[in-house]
Amino acid sequence: MSSPSYYASILCKYLLIIGVVATFFIVVFFNLTYISSQYVDSNIFTIKCEETGPKETTTNLSHLMFVLVGSSSAWKHRRTYIESWWRPNVTRGNIFMDVEPSEEFRPWSPTFPPFKVNEDLRKLSIYPKLANQVHIRIYRSILETYRLQQDDGVRWYVMGDDDSLFFVDNIVDVLSKYDHTEKRYIGMFSESTKSNFRLAFEMAYGGGGYALSYPLVEALVAKLDECIEKYHFIWAGDKLQSYCLADLGADLIPEKGFHQMDLRGDLSGLLSSHPTAPLLSLHHFDAVAPLFPGMNRHGSVLQIMKAANVDQSRMLQQSICYVRASNWTFSVSWGYSAHVYENIFPRSYLKLPIETFRPWLRGWFPFYMFNTRRVSRNPCEAPHWFFFDSIEQVDGGVVTSYTRKFIRNMTSCSFSCDISADPLASIRVFSPITPKEVSSSHDGEEPPLQEEQIDEVEVPEQQIDDILLIDPHNHEYEDITDDATDEAVEDEFNENDDVSSNDENVDVSD
Ligand SMILES: *[C@@H]1O[C@H](CO)[C@@H](O)[C@H](O)[C@H]1NC(C)=O
Ligand SMILES: *[C@@H]1O[C@H](CO)[C@@H](O)[C@H](O)[C@H]1NC(C)=O
Ligand SMILES: *[C@@H]1O[C@H](CO)[C@@H](O)[C@H](O)[C@H]1NC(C)=O
Ligand SMILES: *[C@@H]1O[C@H](CO)[C@@H](O)[C@H](O)[C@H]1NC(C)=O
Repeated sequence: MSSPSYYASILCKYLLIIGVVATFFIVVFFNLTYISSQYVDSNIFTIKCEETGPKETTTNLSHLMFVLVGSSSAWKHRRTYIESWWRPNVTRGNIFMDVEPSEEFRPWSPTFPPFKVNEDLRKLSIYPKLANQVHIRIYRSILETYRLQQDDGVRWYVMGDDDSLFFVDNIVDVLSKYDHTEKRYIGMFSESTKSNFRLAFEMAYGGGGYALSYPLVEALVAKLDECIEKYHFIWAGDKLQSYCLADLGADLIPEKGFHQMDLRGDLSGLLSSHPTAPLLSLHHFDAVAPLFPGMNRHGSVLQIMKAANVDQSRMLQQSICYVRASNWTFSVSWGYSAHVYENIFPRSYLKLPIETFRPWLRGWFPFYMFNTRRVSRNPCEAPHWFFFDSIEQVDGGVVTSYTRKFIRNMTSCSFSCDISADPLASIRVFSPITPKEVSSSHDGEEPPLQEEQIDEVEVPEQQIDDILLIDPHNHEYEDITDDATDEAVEDEFNENDDVSSNDENVDVSD
């Protein structure tokens, strides 16, 4: 029993006890300090918020700068497209052309966006090496817009072609979800797998339109000509843009409402099963068939804007309801079409577009970035088609009417002929006025996606050629429900989209 080790062990014990006690005090004291400082901080924070922080206003149309591009020679037959959505003295922006528009457009109509002639590219030293001089001219409109110094209060640049339709109220609603003080690049890739594969999946297709937040515009214009030099060998301007933006740290945020429309022929199947996202744009009007049967392209554009001018938030949003007594399914694409099936189908099936259209490019399967249903000649699968005809404002809402443009020319699905939908001539859909606050008041928070419920609807006891459907947006009408509509839900893109590139082995060497 040597005393030094005995004392050492006692000392150790005391030190240990002191250490434990000290630790306890430190922990308690620190926590108290931490908690109280947090408490103090949160008070200060609250006070600061209430007293000084200038409240950011919600994004509205005046915060958008449209950079539209076209050519003087095409203006004659493309002017209707832009004219149909442009709001003189309200929408801000310019249309950039290659040369001055011809005499027949002087004086320049105030119903058009102001025109600007693009700068001469030949002053760029890289000019002879450019893979696509037209696209670079168009691309530089961003820089030229910036140099006009018209950007007072601008939060977003929105780029678009002269053969695109924009749904500007919806664009405002969608952009207001995003922080315009950050660098944001918002658009959509192509419908065509081949286009995406050849150009890029990670790019906003220019014709469908896309948006750049102002800080991103500022970063871009500082480097734009440098970037053109760096990527002078790229043919497509929108691809070059995605490269420049990638180098600035901005990757594409997809929004399903932008439509490049890399499709051909009859789009009615796609427009009748639009994704649950606000319709933002439609492109390629010269390449696709007129949107409505029996109408030309210009007439179709005016027709689709007729409904859009009343309520854009509902445009092309799909509502589904059932008449159990006769086994009918109604699928309404607001402002565009109504389908009646002589059968009961769930939404999982009805949300797939009917493949009335053709691929944009010849090539390999799969053609589209979404699943489709084949056009069917089976009377139990093929719908009766009705197309948007008119819209009328009524007490508390609007009524859209859809009329039959061609006979289905099939037998009835059921053997008992009295439940054939053949006698239906038109369908009227009542929608309550959308309260504007609903679509513009979100501060980055998404409303929950409604669950689809399948309920029944009575056949109204009235003439069979005039069925009135009650629009299910109105929750007072609990007996009919629809899919969720108004808002684009960003997360939904990843979770619900049918695109899955992993399970396909495209053999590109063929
Ligand atoms: C848009 O917001 C600005 C504030 O940034 C405001 O001054 C303007 O009145 C708003 N315009 C509309 C049409 O609400
Ligand atoms: C636009 O504003 C100008 C002057 O501010 C006015 O002369 C013109 O009539 C307005 N145009 C329209 C279509 O309202
Ligand atoms: C509706 O469809 C169901 C199932 O296919 C069938 O059993 C029923 O007889 C049909 N009702 C009518 C009225 O055709
Ligand atoms: C209806 O269908 C039949 C056979 O499928 C066809 O012979 C006839 O031409 C069609 N009529 C119309 C008007 O499409």
